[in-house]
Order: sequence, then C-alpha cells, then structure tokens
Amino acid sequence: MSHDTQSKPKKDSKPKKKMPRYSAERIIGSGSFGTVYKAVNVESKETVAIKKVREDKRYKNRELEMMKVVRHPNIVALVDCFYSKSDRDIYLNLVMEFIPETLYDTIRLHAKAGQTLPYLLTKLYAYQICRSLAYCHERNICHRDIKPQNLLLDPDKHIVKLCDFGSAKQLKDSEPNVSYICSRYYRAPELIFEESYYKTSIDLWSIGCVIGELFLGTPLFQGDRSVDQLVEIIKVLGTPSKQEILAMNPEYTQTHFPVVKPLPWKIVFAGVSYENEPVPDDAIAFLSCLLKFTPNERLRAFDCLAHPYFDELRLETTKIPHGGKMPPLFNFTNEEIKIAKKKQILNKLIPKWLENGNTNTNTNDDNDDNNDSSTAQQTKSGQQL
Ligand SMILES: Nc1ncnc2c1ncn2[C@@H]1O[C@H](COP(=O)(O)OP(=O)(O)O)[C@@H](O)[C@H]1O
Ligand SMILES: [Mg+2]
Repeated sequence: MSHDTQSKPKKDSKPKKKMPRYSAERIIGSGSFGTVYKAVNVESKETVAIKKVREDKRYKNRELEMMKVVRHPNIVALVDCFYSKSDRDIYLNLVMEFIPETLYDTIRLHAKAGQTLPYLLTKLYAYQICRSLAYCHERNICHRDIKPQNLLLDPDKHIVKLCDFGSAKQLKDSEPNVSYICSRYYRAPELIFEESYYKTSIDLWSIGCVIGELFLGTPLFQGDRSVDQLVEIIKVLGTPSKQEILAMNPEYTQTHFPVVKPLPWKIVFAGVSYENEPVPDDAIAFLSCLLKFTPNERLRAFDCLAHPYFDELRLETTKIPHGGKMPPLFNFTNEEIKIAKKKQILNKLIPKWLENGNTNTNTNDDNDDNNDSSTAQQTKSGQQL
C-alpha cells in the first residue's frame, strides 16, 4: 500500500498513528537492486540505514518478507518499512538498524596497510557468521549471497550482522531453484555446475571462502568468469572425483577435467603469519570441513559452533588483542538452546565458567514488534526515500 506524501489529511478522518520521518544524510551503498542511505529518525534521533528498492509488480519482494521474520543478534534488524513514490515509480524502503562498517571494509583496510587481521578477530567474526546462518538454515532459509559486503561490522564492539536478504529463499527439497545466484568468488562449485536442487550447504561454502579471505586479505578463489572460478577452486582442492561431480550435479556428463593434485592449505596460506606463526592447524581443519566439493559433507552451520576451532572463544581468559570488550557470544535464544540440547552440544557451547551467570540475556524467539508501516514518507532534507 502506498500513500502520497503530498496528500492533505481529511478534516474528519481519525487521528492516524504518527509515522516516523527520516532525514537522509548520505548514500552508503548502491547496487543493482537499489540504494542504501544513512539516515536519522527525525523524532528519536536514532541513526538508521534505509534500503530503497524499486517495486516491481511482477515479482514478490522476498527481501521484506524475510526481513520481517528473521530475528537474531547476528542478523541486521528491520525497524520499520514504508513505501514512497518518485517519478511514478513506487519504492519500498527497508529501515534497518545502522551498522557502521562491513567485513569488506575491514579486510580491505588491513590489506592496504599491509596488515593481517588479528587472528582472534577472524575467529570472532567467523563464529558470529556461523551463528547467523545456523538461525537461517534452521528455517531452511538459504541466504544465497554470503560475501564480506553483506556482513556488517561494528568495529568497536566487534559484532557482525548478516544483511542483504535480497537473494534469500526458503528452500523446499522437491523444488528446483535458480543456480545463477551468489557472487562469483563465493559461489559453491555445484552452482557453477548449474545444479538447481542445491541445499543450504551452498552458504557453508561461501562462509569458507569468507574465512579464507579474512586470513589472506584477498578473496580465496578469484575467477575472472564463472568457468575460471571452477579452475581456481580446482587449483586448490584438486580435480573433483567422478563421485564428487555426481554429488554436485547428477546430470553433469562432462567429467573430463585435467588432473590437478590438491594444494595443501598450509601452502595456500604460506604468506600469512600471526606473530611469526602460520595459520593454526585448527583453523585449517575447520576450513576444510566447509570447502568440500560434496555438498552433504560440508559441516552444518549449527555444528560449526561446536567445532574445536571456536574453543578459544569459550575460554574465560580470552581477550580482545588491544583491549575492549568481547562481543556477546553466549546470548543464545531459547531456540538455539533447544537445538544445542537436542544435538547434545549445549555443554560445549556454554562454557562452565559461565554456567551460573546470565547466559541467556537476549531471547529473540518472539516476533511481535516487527512493524510494517506502509506509508510514504519524506526526509527532512527534502530527499525523498
Ligand atoms: N543496516 C545497515 N547499516 C549500515 N550499512 C548498511 C546496512 N545495510 C546495508 N548497508 C550498506 O549498503 C550496502 C548495500 O546493501 P545491501 O543490502 O547489501 O544491498 P544490495 O542488494 O544492493 O547489495 C552494504 O554492502 C553495506 O555497505
Ligand atoms: Mg549486498
């Protein structure tokens, strides 16, 4: 539903709920799907991000539907939404909490300065990404565009939040899905093989690529085109076996690839060192659980949380390298606790030293304060959103 911002209220109409107004400060992102603004709620002075996307009557906007249902400490929160009009087009505006940076920004900043991201931070970020995806995958929601640009970062609190549900979809086992999704460097090999019955495990491949990039400071597999992307993957993982090709796409008939031996991960990360030490073995062990050709063999997002790689985060003595508070890692929702109990990993996820403390400070099971105020609005600065 849309209202014209210019229309005057009728004298005898009931008092309407007052809609917040937003003042746009600047553009913080513009892509093929729309523009993202940093804005301020004029009344509350709260800083928000507003993603403005042109409505296309032919397609259902899945992003709004998704944003309304997903609620997790590691997923960007939708705070409001409204429609606006300009040049006869109707725009959907998703108002979100504002998060200052992305993983992309911090990776590039460190790379430019010739620095590696501190090892503990890479682990903190990886853990939070896994948590956000465990939440989505529990609902069979596949994000389908995991990449550093879609992982927001609060650099002071070290909190990571997943954003951009523009490609996300709830997968159904029996239904095919388009395979031309996900940004090239992060595309799972089954997508390159044009498999349409893929699972949420495509996101686990992408997480593996993001973690590799956190270590390297540059994308792990950088193909120039879709096929080159596969070549880059094969250079590291080696040629997939016939069985692995079938697991990626049972209909794939062309199985003649040049035989390439896998490259040990130690060599891939040979240029990376943390205080003169190479990338630790547990990190490499974790990464190899994600970057597997066979989709079903990839570790599931929730199980990732219990991997020994993350044990360091559960130690009472673990501290942020240059001071500062650790981000919340144990603010499990009731749902997460239920799943962890079922998987018998709750004892692992909640360390002993925290057991009598307040571990569940942030229950996010209810969805009742998601509001959809479908009203046209205009920013104070006159910029119509
Ligand atoms: N809630 C937010 N807070 C701050 N910046 C954001 C927020 N949401 C998106 N951005 C910025 O805008 C960019 C584009 O947003 P995104 O939702 O990924 O749109 P697109 O579909 O165009 O990729 C992000 O990469 C990020 O830099
Ligand atoms: Mg994006």
